[in-house]
Amino acid sequence: MAYADIYAASLNDPEGFWMEQAGKIDWLTPPTRALNGEKAPFYSWFADGRLNACWNAVDRHVEAGRGKQIAIKHVSPITHSTKGITYAELQARVASLAGALRAKGVQKGDRVIIYMPMIPEALEAMLACARLGAIHSVVFGGFAAHELAVRINDCTPKAIIAASCGLEPGRVVHYKPLLDKAIEEATHKPEFCVVFQREQEVAKLIEGRDVAWHTFQYGVEPAECVPVEGDHPAYILYTSGTTGQPKGVVRATGGHLVALNWTMKAIYDIDAGDVFWAASDVGWVVGHSYICYGPLIAGATTIVYEGKPVGTPDAGAFWRVMQNQRVKSFFTAPTALRAIKREDPEGKLIAEYNLRSLKTVYLAGERADPDTILWAQRHLNVPVIDHWWQTESGWAIAANPMGIEPLPVKLGSPSVPMPGYDIRVLDEGGHQMAPGELGAIAIKLPLPPGTLPTLWNAAERFVKSYLTHFPGYYETGDAGYIDEDGYVYIMARTDDVINVAGHRLSTGAMEEVLASHRDVAECAVIGVSDALKGQSPMGFLCLNKGTNREPAEVVKECVALMRDKIGPVADFKRACVVERLPKTRSGKILRGTMVKIADGQEFKTPATIDDPAILDEIRVALKTLGYPAA
Ligand code: COA
Ligand code: AMP
Repeated sequence: MAYADIYAASLNDPEGFWMEQAGKIDWLTPPTRALNGEKAPFYSWFADGRLNACWNAVDRHVEAGRGKQIAIKHVSPITHSTKGITYAELQARVASLAGALRAKGVQKGDRVIIYMPMIPEALEAMLACARLGAIHSVVFGGFAAHELAVRINDCTPKAIIAASCGLEPGRVVHYKPLLDKAIEEATHKPEFCVVFQREQEVAKLIEGRDVAWHTFQYGVEPAECVPVEGDHPAYILYTSGTTGQPKGVVRATGGHLVALNWTMKAIYDIDAGDVFWAASDVGWVVGHSYICYGPLIAGATTIVYEGKPVGTPDAGAFWRVMQNQRVKSFFTAPTALRAIKREDPEGKLIAEYNLRSLKTVYLAGERADPDTILWAQRHLNVPVIDHWWQTESGWAIAANPMGIEPLPVKLGSPSVPMPGYDIRVLDEGGHQMAPGELGAIAIKLPLPPGTLPTLWNAAERFVKSYLTHFPGYYETGDAGYIDEDGYVYIMARTDDVINVAGHRLSTGAMEEVLASHRDVAECAVIGVSDALKGQSPMGFLCLNKGTNREPAEVVKECVALMRDKIGPVADFKRACVVERLPKTRSGKILRGTMVKIADGQEFKTPATIDDPAILDEIRVALKTLGYPAA
């Protein structure tokens, strides 16, 4: 069937469409129906079916005779090692870990936080939880102890699984002290922690609380897969909202597996035995869907890459992995390609590798700028496909379905809506905009399987954040338009979320950190344009009256505070002290206007501004930081 027929079928007969897709994964009890809307706007999918995510990702491939095939390939240019794990080995390792977790009391429904770098054990920990029906919550290694503590308090894990360290180029990330600090700060205490000791650093364990990954598995019975209901949460993944309290996106098991299974062929053109590589991190949604679950459900080989696009050791790192591992479909963030392009604009390093296996490159995480797409197309000679999605959706909302019908690529567009996503562009009043007109992007309810059914412990916040502004729709938080051919264009966020190197960050959360500095009376954080990272955060600080602190000192302390509270991933390196912030008469800080000044864009002084003279002060302050950049 062609794309248009598939898409139409998904909207006209969602029940039939998704039940057919559900038949392509393994169930202990097949669902009798797909959608349950009795508690709308809280929808569930496949609620009366029973299945297990680990079974679908691992065991069923062993059962089908694919046990000897490599499931996970760990490629680490940082440790100069490459290691493969077959599906049969993965099954044994995961069953053993799950058995040990079960012996320590972890059961279906318990939460387990995973705080690990890009090593196969991170996937094994996720799958071991899934095997028991425990709900994992992976926390990205670039977050500081405080962010980990916030997540511990919110999802109240029975256990935390961590590694002794992570490895960034030229720097060992000491996970264990961060873990200890987070547990000390959190009001909820896990019953125990499992620590995977890496060669590069052996962490000191706390007696009575910590157990070592290997020793706690000695002598335990491996665990079998525990069947869970289709709407049982598989995981919670925290993402930035507009405040310091992240949103715990819940993913329900059945819809998650059914949708990912559909995408592996339809979008990524991956069959069992193919090699798929998403160069992201397990701490992000891309890592959940396309480093762990998606490729494994498809019976493919997934690459776990511990390295960077540049500097580990050079800008040829990606091409080397693609050649050596015979990668068929590759997924990364545009910022990674920009980093490579900056070091190797002529693509000379690309020419050194045999990339015959590579069929398609997929980009997501931020808007793919046409220059980057053209550069990649020219040098890689394969289709470069932008696709748009969010932590909340778990899989592409708009994409180019390369496995069913490659559509013409339109630069600047992530192409067309995927099945079940009825995308509309609305004005402030909720009226549909004409093709080509810019508005808020919303999706008509219900959302398809695999998308968030709610937020963990925060059903009211779920409704308020996503479903209230446009009744009957899910508000994506993105603005853009749809053209005459039905291609979607994502242009900006409508909230205070910024996107730094493909990482979603909250300026509100950063402002909360700055405001906690004893000399800061008031502050604002904006996202300014950055040629490499898309956006970069910049802080404006108003100091307490009467303080005699040197502005430069306070700025330095604020930069350190942000690294300590949110973590290096915030990439907060620029701030300045100003007398006042530009505000409307009702007191709203004019962040959008500040962004325009920093980016050197034309703008109209807002009619509601309290004192237009402040904009000149902001202009002067930005100049001292080198903005607008030439
Ligand atoms: N653990 C600990 N620290 C981490 C980390 C992790 N897992 N990941 C990143 N950091 C740190 C980095 O070391 C850096 O610290 P520094 O300030 O001491 O240098 C900081 O967080 C910012 O990291 P990053 O945004 O990665 O910037 P970078 O300058 O190190 O690298 C790129 C720039 C473009 C190469 C890099 O951002 C990149 O590869 N981006 C792709 C993003 C991506 O895959 N996103 C996933 C969504 S699809
Ligand atoms: P995250 O939840 O971290 O995956 O971030 C999701 C947000 O990243 C989206 O809401 C968009 O703002 C942005 N984003 C992701 N993919 C794209 C894309 N292909 N084009 C434009 N923006 C994107």
